[in-house]
Amino acid sequence: MFTKIIATGSYVPERLVTNDELAGMMETSDEWIRTRTGIRERHLFEDPSAAVGAEAEGTTVSSACIAGERAIHMAEEKGLQRSEIGLCIVATCTPDAVFPATACAVADRLGLSAPAAFDLSLACTGFLAAFNTAAIYLSSGMYKNALIIGVDVMSKLLDMSDRSTSILFGDGAGALVLTSDTRFREGSDSGVLKALLRTDGSRGGVLSCRSAYLNGPEASAMHMDGRAVFEFAVREVPRLITELLDGQPEPELYILHQANYRILEAVAKRLRQPMDRFPHNIERYANTTAATIPLLLDELMREGRLHDGDTTVMAGFGAGLSLGGVLLRL
Ligand code: COA
Repeated sequence: MFTKIIATGSYVPERLVTNDELAGMMETSDEWIRTRTGIRERHLFEDPSAAVGAEAEGTTVSSACIAGERAIHMAEEKGLQRSEIGLCIVATCTPDAVFPATACAVADRLGLSAPAAFDLSLACTGFLAAFNTAAIYLSSGMYKNALIIGVDVMSKLLDMSDRSTSILFGDGAGALVLTSDTRFREGSDSGVLKALLRTDGSRGGVLSCRSAYLNGPEASAMHMDGRAVFEFAVREVPRLITELLDGQPEPELYILHQANYRILEAVAKRLRQPMDRFPHNIERYANTTAATIPLLLDELMREGRLHDGDTTVMAGFGAGLSLGGVLLRL
């Protein structure tokens, strides 16, 4: 079934926070953060609970809208009208409200006409859950075009007195427009070749954050066993990718969730692939949870690195514990 990413967009808040700035707030150093994670800097809202101006109705909705608008603008330049987008899925674990869903506000603000709109919550694997869900809807013929957004305002959750978690995350949003309309085929047989999602809920305690909305302010601190998450990713992501490929030729690009540069290196090594097939931007944005993959896709699209007919693997992993992947011909 023909399915193609025809447009992308992204957004990060203006405020840049370097490792040195964090070292002024807690017992850490630029050297420790860079060597353990590859992160140099991240973008964070100053105080997401006191958002003003364009963010007044909430930083998650506004971030998603800016990224979404940029993706729709690119789609319009290629000849797809916004009124043709019938499905809007937002992946986030940091919504502005328990309800209504982020996607409902986003679809309204972006002027989509009567779309199906809903959120999916699978933390760092959320974007893959959204992408695979949208691809299934498109292949069923129920919708022709979908706007998929991964957005997380992690600064809502970060405890700046916990150096083991607060240095890892950033705020951001990435969006893409996926189409099954064959008028965009342009010769290449783009489509999803295989998609997978996996969870092991028995290990949910390794990475968790109970909602302060529902359980009181004390409940919002993030709990993470960093080493266990690291080992899970390094062991399971290569397995997932091997299963996705199932004997198919090596893809040109491995677009992985950006959690730690050392995880990318370890996965590349296990798959016996060179690092230049693993594009990365974790050094500039840190881990933006559901936004990492679409943020990276947007950079690759704008740099002209997503070539029609190339194959790519996208893979996410994180809280759940969960894993998601897709093998895609671009
Ligand atoms: N600055 C300085 N020291 C720090 C620190 C920081 N920001 N954070 C933790 N430490 C200290 C700890 O207190 C501990 O000290 P101790 O040995 O005296 O107790 C030590 O560093 C931890 O070292 P280690 O466990 O060897 O670190 P690591 O190499 O495993 O790296 C992570 C830690 C968190 C960077 C790494 O495990 C990781 O990235 N895991 C994956 C996390 C992740 O991606 N989560 C989201 C998934 S979607």
